[in-house]
Amino acid sequence: MSTAPTTKGIRVDQFFTVAEARLDRWREFLQSARAWANTTAQPQLSAVSAAFQELREWEDFFAYPGPALLQRLEERITASDAAGTARLVQSISTALLTHSYRNDPTNWGSDETPPSLGERIPGAAEAGRSYRAYFEVLVASPATPSMSLQLAEDLRNLRRPQDKFIYEPVFVGSFEDAVMGTVLNGSLEAIVIVEGIPFESRHNSPVLREFLTNHLAATGNTLTSGQYSLALAKAVKLIRPELDVFLLSDRSVEKIAGDVSLDYIRRVFYQVEEPLELHLSILEAIQDRYTTPYFDNLQKYAQRPIGTFHALPVARGKSIFKSNWIRDMGEFYGTNLFLAESSATTGGLDSLLEPTGNIKIAQEKAARAFGADHVFFVTNGTSTSNKMVEQALLAPGDIMIVDRNCHKSHHYGAVLSGALPLYVEAYPLTKYSMYGAVPLRTIKKALLDLKAEGKLDRARMLVLTNCTFDGQIYNTERIMEECLAIKPDLIFLWDEAWFGFARWSPFYRRRTAMGGAAILEEKLKDPAYRKAYEEQAKKLGSDLNPKDSKLLETHLLANPEKVHLRVYQTNSTHKSMSCLRQGSMVLVKDQDYHHVEEQFHEAVFTHASTSPNLQIIATIDVARRQMELEGYELVNRAIQLALDLRREVNSHPLISKYFKILGADEMIPAEFRTTGFVDYLTPGSNWTTAVKTLREDEFALDVTRLTLVCGSAGFDGTQFKNMLAADYDIQLNKTSRNSVLLQTNINNTRSDIAQLIKVLVEISRGIERKLTEGGAAAQLAFAKQVKSLMEDVPNLPNFSYFHASFRQNPSSSTGEGDMRSAFFGAYREEQCEHLKLSSPEIDQRLRKGPELVSANFVIPYPPGFPIMVPGQVITAETIEFMRKLDVKEIHGFDASTGLKLLKPSYLMAMKPPARPEAAKEVKKKAAA
Ligand SMILES: Cc1ncc(COP(=O)(O)O)c(C=O)c1O
Repeated sequence: MSTAPTTKGIRVDQFFTVAEARLDRWREFLQSARAWANTTAQPQLSAVSAAFQELREWEDFFAYPGPALLQRLEERITASDAAGTARLVQSISTALLTHSYRNDPTNWGSDETPPSLGERIPGAAEAGRSYRAYFEVLVASPATPSMSLQLAEDLRNLRRPQDKFIYEPVFVGSFEDAVMGTVLNGSLEAIVIVEGIPFESRHNSPVLREFLTNHLAATGNTLTSGQYSLALAKAVKLIRPELDVFLLSDRSVEKIAGDVSLDYIRRVFYQVEEPLELHLSILEAIQDRYTTPYFDNLQKYAQRPIGTFHALPVARGKSIFKSNWIRDMGEFYGTNLFLAESSATTGGLDSLLEPTGNIKIAQEKAARAFGADHVFFVTNGTSTSNKMVEQALLAPGDIMIVDRNCHKSHHYGAVLSGALPLYVEAYPLTKYSMYGAVPLRTIKKALLDLKAEGKLDRARMLVLTNCTFDGQIYNTERIMEECLAIKPDLIFLWDEAWFGFARWSPFYRRRTAMGGAAILEEKLKDPAYRKAYEEQAKKLGSDLNPKDSKLLETHLLANPEKVHLRVYQTNSTHKSMSCLRQGSMVLVKDQDYHHVEEQFHEAVFTHASTSPNLQIIATIDVARRQMELEGYELVNRAIQLALDLRREVNSHPLISKYFKILGADEMIPAEFRTTGFVDYLTPGSNWTTAVKTLREDEFALDVTRLTLVCGSAGFDGTQFKNMLAADYDIQLNKTSRNSVLLQTNINNTRSDIAQLIKVLVEISRGIERKLTEGGAAAQLAFAKQVKSLMEDVPNLPNFSYFHASFRQNPSSSTGEGDMRSAFFGAYREEQCEHLKLSSPEIDQRLRKGPELVSANFVIPYPPGFPIMVPGQVITAETIEFMRKLDVKEIHGFDASTGLKLLKPSYLMAMKPPARPEAAKEVKKKAAA
């Protein structure tokens, strides 16, 4: 992968994962060194020197191979020792590729010079030593290189055999280089800032500078002159909040230590007077992140001889390992699974329902890691997390503004809580038979309409999916800010089932629930914001007039005096982190949480199993540890792989004839990309445009969600998915009529991507063959199939409206409905009827009435959203969609019995609408 800067700026895919780009650079260097060794010709030497120089610029930010080995390489090149150069490059690049340098001390020396004692990295290779995790520490210091070498030596000499981790320092000399190091080096876990560092990098590379500028811009860093050490600490935390920051100062360290605004600095030292303390503090800080209270204890528990007299035969596994018939179960799962199972909450196992011990501490650690105030571990998936939050915070009659296209758990959450869903619509992507996300304007309009009707006090929660299954990411901060301008105590539930990993990317973090809330919290404290709000209030009035059409066009500012920031996030930890299936979390950042804590616990009691799976709890704990220690590197790699896959598919001469991965331009309508962003990899796009879209646009696309259009290859989504699974052992999840969704995550490797590309080539070749061999007839049939899949797509029906019987106040023109009553209305058979989808009575009733009212949820997969909910009036569009639907899996619908409806006689017996013309208004609005 070339890293040369272009005049148009750096391409995004060149830098997302520096680790991969770095390995590529070493491989290229190795190739030229080998070529030189084979010919020793002058042009080869120039190529080697050039490759070395390019590489050197970047290597300053990593501990390995480090200055000593790089110098040895330089000497060999200067001495025209081609064979020696090739040998050394080979051993360094192998060590980098396999990560062996983290544990093997011999990697740190060259073939003729073994590592000196000071350079030794004692690790697993040493006899009798168990594996020690390796990391690097960035030291930003104005010291001279020789002083730095001395400090490195001092720190190495402090290593003790009992240390659990081992680290190497990396020295940089300026603010800019420290930021670069933070961005580039995924092995960094801590940074030591020595006061007095200058600002400017000694690297005068435009590539590095652009890289730096964009990273700072992505995280909202603004540079201040003067106090570079503190500004650096802040910049580092904005990029990678998990890193530990230590400050070495010669000023009044007591004052700095006592300054609460500097709580992002873990410890302050008076210069380097105490290297041992610094060393121990670095290790202790890592231990803090490494500790997984629940998992650690579970491992200890599994090793104890425990007699069990509770009801869980698999605990300790004796019924399995001694069995005549099920021993294979024990062999398959291994002993630990059973030794670590218990239904007891004693023995330090703590109780998920009422945590007071290590689960409590594990949850506190997760809260710190994810930037929340509180975290709840959930062992029944985000389906349960969502219902918990909704039951805890919504009471019957409250209004819940919710994306109709959201996960079904939210619809059931409304049934359980008795809250009235007010459905808001996402923009449709009809061409691909899927929905996008809900525009801010739609949400504001819903709130203003409620205000106009005097019902704003009942609007309690906004529920949105961020990002959506297909990758539309909201501008969380902007949405919350503008909604709070209208309803200052609105609660936000961001369903980030798919987006838990985003916390670990500096690009995505600001668009997560917790990231957006943190930015907004800071903003609201800023006197300049208050002033801007006051200015706006003078123009618009402090109590916004909901009829004022300007409000929809204006970027509304929230009143800092009145805002109650109440933000909840749910995430399926198992979907994007190393956690067993069903592991999920609820994150809470709610300034009024103390008012709802009790009811929150009630909701936990309602939904959490009294027999939670201990392995799920343990792996949520471990997933947090992993993300806090290596999430940054892993997420960057997942993003890089997604960019690689996008580029390869869309530029491959054969694959791109039949397949295409959709870019932001096709997934997000232009009106929501006001920065003019087209896509990450289109010509003209670069770092600057990518960062801008993530900062400013209403919606941005998560690159790790890849919608692969397969309709143009003649396959419908389900057919293509099944073929990949059956013929190529490739699994994926979501499909639409003409596409499948591919995802990359922290588990994927470059080999996975290569395999997928190979398969797509094979399939494309198969299509070509069929078309050539089959002649005109085959080509015609193919074109017809493609047209049917790509052009004859059914319109996606919007939510129609709730039947007047389920509208609490039918005089209202807002669309919320009492779905719960409709849901339970269907519990009595005599109140329901069934009509077959093809029955002429349906058409007749659509024309003449009485209205067809759904008795239950009907959810076809794909697209996976309820096209009917209990109490919803079924319209001609819905029937048309259902009739065209050619999917096999439709939850809530059995073709042999037909649509389940609430009987008109039952509806008539319910309270009649108070003002029928208002109900008509709702209908009219829905139709529009
Ligand atoms: C947006 C969304 N929320 C919630 C869930 C439910 O998550 P879980 O499978 O962890 O129960 C899903 C599942 O696909 C989802 O897509």
